[in-house]
Amino acid sequence: MDNTIFEQVDQYIGDLLLPEDQVLTDTLKSIVDAGLPSISVSPNQGKFLHVLVLATQAKRILELGTLGGYSTICMARALPADGKLLSLEIDPTSVRVALHNIQRAGLEDKVEIRLGKALDQLPKILEAGEGPYDLIFIDADKPPYAEYFDFAVQLSRPGTLIICDNVIRDGKVLDHESTDEMVQGVQRFNLALSKDPRVTATIIQTVGSKEYDGMALAVVK
Ligand SMILES: C[S@@+](CC[C@H](N)C(=O)[O-])C[C@H]1O[C@@H](n2cnc3c(N)ncnc32)[C@H](O)[C@@H]1O
Repeated sequence: MDNTIFEQVDQYIGDLLLPEDQVLTDTLKSIVDAGLPSISVSPNQGKFLHVLVLATQAKRILELGTLGGYSTICMARALPADGKLLSLEIDPTSVRVALHNIQRAGLEDKVEIRLGKALDQLPKILEAGEGPYDLIFIDADKPPYAEYFDFAVQLSRPGTLIICDNVIRDGKVLDHESTDEMVQGVQRFNLALSKDPRVTATIIQTVGSKEYDGMALAVVK
């Protein structure tokens, strides 16, 4: 697929609506410098998450998959003074890099990053009664997306917005013979989402500077 027009329009939107942002630029550089993969949300997607936090007036955010803290910073910046964001990350290098970036962004009082496997941490968060969260962003490994979503709903209140990234995978979700475990994971999740009576949901296709993909948006009833 030729993504040139999507990249050019993403650039056009960025030029209009994303002022130069040294903290976010440094965050992306730190990810490359640490040898981590460049798989943060795109700048426009980060702004989209920022706008969603403002629109929902979220005060408590849960994120699955921190990487270098790019999406974390985009969302945490939209929190009110007493807002909090908890982000779960399995990779120690990512946690170290993200903590540095969070500090540089001046968000250390609002953001907590917990090191460990999300599927181990989520039951503990539930048992400890740390919910409900107002907004939950799922952006970790894809195979357990259906399980992540189930925990997310349990950690919600009516009106909580749950956002799940990368659920279209360059259109590969259409291939029911796919042997790619990431594709299979989001196919299983998308089907579960379609049958979940606890939420009202849709999926938007995302194009731009990153590869063609999609985000599921679900509001808990
Ligand atoms: C797509 S990246 C997150 C990008 C980040 N949300 C952003 O946009 O800036 C996915 C992250 O999930 C983490 N991850 C993968 N498997 C995980 C697991 N089982 N539990 C927690 N985090 C995991 C990876 O180490 C990686 O940092």
